[in-house]
Amino acid sequence: MGFISDQLIQWHKTSGRHNLPWQNTHDPYLIWLSEIMLQQTQVTTVLTYYKKFIKRFPDIDILANAEEEKVLELWSGLGYYARARNLHKTAIEISKNYDAKFPSSFDRLLSLPGIGRSTAGAISAFAFKKKKPILDGNVKRVFTRYLGIKEWAGKPSVEKELWEIATRNLPKTNKHIHTYTQALMDLGATICRRTQPLCNNCPLKSKCISFKKNLTKEIPASKPKKTLPINEIYLLIINSRDSYLFEKKPSKGIWAGLWSMPELENFKNTANWIKENLNEDDYKMLEIGKHKTSFTHYKLNIHFQYIFLNSSKLLKTDNCKWIKKSSLKNAALPSPIKKILNTLKDV
Ligand code: ADE
Repeated sequence: MGFISDQLIQWHKTSGRHNLPWQNTHDPYLIWLSEIMLQQTQVTTVLTYYKKFIKRFPDIDILANAEEEKVLELWSGLGYYARARNLHKTAIEISKNYDAKFPSSFDRLLSLPGIGRSTAGAISAFAFKKKKPILDGNVKRVFTRYLGIKEWAGKPSVEKELWEIATRNLPKTNKHIHTYTQALMDLGATICRRTQPLCNNCPLKSKCISFKKNLTKEIPASKPKKTLPINEIYLLIINSRDSYLFEKKPSKGIWAGLWSMPELENFKNTANWIKENLNEDDYKMLEIGKHKTSFTHYKLNIHFQYIFLNSSKLLKTDNCKWIKKSSLKNAALPSPIKKILNTLKDV
């Protein structure tokens, strides 16, 4: 592959993004935060969360001293909550072990919770002007299309090859490493889009194999499908007046630390559960429903039973609480639970 770094740097000057709020700074705290938010989320969504977040947690000590619950609340709606929990853990670690200063060593960055090789590369380039490669989903698409690699980019041997390519293609000096890194991200997001790429505007089109051979629909290849196991869970959606009853999930496992609904082995025990925890015989049981969702390693069928009570007593208070419907938007709830509650609005 000829060097594409010079072309990318040139292209960025006229056609890249220059005014994102985490650009034009070398503050590793701000850069780290934006990179974590951008890991699975698009720029347009991240913008408002990022601004809210730095207003509330303007530096790493303030974030480290916050309660995890508050961090999760501010993350509510961005999804992939492990990112928020790891963000908080990393803030605590840096505050304690690094005197609240971000380490500039690549290996130390990589050892922090939630910072993988590509994120460590981006922080190194943007905050510390180091020549380190990145390889997120967008960049994999740019390289696989440019080189005509037809295999799935997540396959370990392909991924290894792509890291080698990303390393070989770095600019010769570190002078423009931040522009180069941002250019790769911007090209992937705005030109080399997954669907309907804008090849005519691409600075790499004259040598891009996918453009020349009309392969942009086949490349990048999707992940080979495998059949996933299906898990079933049974949730009680208990509504009293203007509130729903929530139960906090343990700190490990699915939806760790988020507020879900009371969970049963099956619905045969519903009456017992209500008696034991709410001391209530007077309730209306409405419909039973099912919501299907899917994670990386399994599918999940969420069965739910909708229950309406008049009182809102609570015997079991350690990890349960009522949350008002008007506060749900800002609560740290798993997104399938939010979806289910939205469909129930009119019940
Ligand atoms: N995606 C990941 N990091 C990014 C950044 N710094 N700017 C725009 N999109 C990104």
